[in-house]
Amino acid sequence: MKLCTIDGLDLRGKYVLLRDDFNVQIVDGKITDAFRIEQSMPTINLLKEKGARVAIVAHLGRPKGVRDMKYSLRPVAEYMHVPLIKSFLSEMHDGDVVLLENVRFYAGEEENDSDFSKKLATGFDVFVNDAFAVSHRAHASTVGVTKFLSSYAGLLLTSEIENLTAVMQNPKRPLLSIVGGSKVSTKIGVLRALAKLSDTLIIGGALGTTFNFALGANVGNSLYETDQKENALEILEYAKQNNCRVLVPLDKGVASEFKPDAVRENRKMSDIKPNDVIIDAGVETTERDVAEICRAATVIWNGTVGMAEWMPTWSYGSFAIANAIAENTKSRGMVSVVGGGDTVAALHACGVMNEISYVSTGGGAFLEFIEGRELPGISVLMD
Ligand code: 3PG
Repeated sequence: MKLCTIDGLDLRGKYVLLRDDFNVQIVDGKITDAFRIEQSMPTINLLKEKGARVAIVAHLGRPKGVRDMKYSLRPVAEYMHVPLIKSFLSEMHDGDVVLLENVRFYAGEEENDSDFSKKLATGFDVFVNDAFAVSHRAHASTVGVTKFLSSYAGLLLTSEIENLTAVMQNPKRPLLSIVGGSKVSTKIGVLRALAKLSDTLIIGGALGTTFNFALGANVGNSLYETDQKENALEILEYAKQNNCRVLVPLDKGVASEFKPDAVRENRKMSDIKPNDVIIDAGVETTERDVAEICRAATVIWNGTVGMAEWMPTWSYGSFAIANAIAENTKSRGMVSVVGGGDTVAALHACGVMNEISYVSTGGGAFLEFIEGRELPGISVLMD
């Protein structure tokens, strides 16, 4: 099966409904990271050049079918210098672009309601999906509308699929995967998939703490999941069966309280005290992780290994990983693939976004794709 793309389509004068993922962080009405918007621009520009009349449909946050202006896409429209409108507009010229207000203001969106999908499609000639980051959701604006319009993948969606498929199907070896973040429960699928695919798997962050706990360590007063012990042990066993070496944290950056300005101490896992709160990877763990990156031919990274946004004290482990991945990609052509909101934010904070082979716009979608799951928003674009 082949993905239907916009290449070669004659779109002059055609009304195009374009799905983008503009679910970006907005603080005081200002966008703090426009990565997803910027990555969507090549398709928007191509559609303009082709003379299409483009209305972008997108969501922001989870307003749950209620018109809550806290979730308005106005800051995005202002950032893009396009009008924000409520529904289909017939008075457009070739090359015009408008943004429709948050599609999740309507309950029919997340319900993938057929009547709502039909309404959304009304007046348009073609549907283009460029929203990889929401393609794991079977919603009206990702799946429902495809029943009423000829549907195609945009440049970003196509590039996400090509890049992620390449690293999964034919990675240069040795392949090192680094998975951090907070919950084993949300990452079981991706941990299993990466344990099968990788030569080495580093598990860090609070996720790593749960693995330390499962292996019998004392983790003090830290964030971890007691109910995930069996799953963690099962993943370790599965990795062993698949000849994947798993590396768990050796030491941690700890404090007596979970807060950004807490005083940092380094502790070996065996020395963690009952009141210690783990907030970051330790020095020895980080040195080991960097050495592993220096040996790898490919690195896949998802999930920070500490509270990376609490700079500089608690970003130490995550920033060391981000910088090592960037340096090795640049200096010796290592292939690097990074995905996930917090992880991409860490790259951004280190100023190394442009030094990574491929940075995905996906969070949950990235995880599900790597897991090998079928993403409904992509399946409907297959010829
Ligand atoms: C994301 O930010 O990962 C996507 O926009 C999906 O958002 P959702 O998890 O609210 O569906």
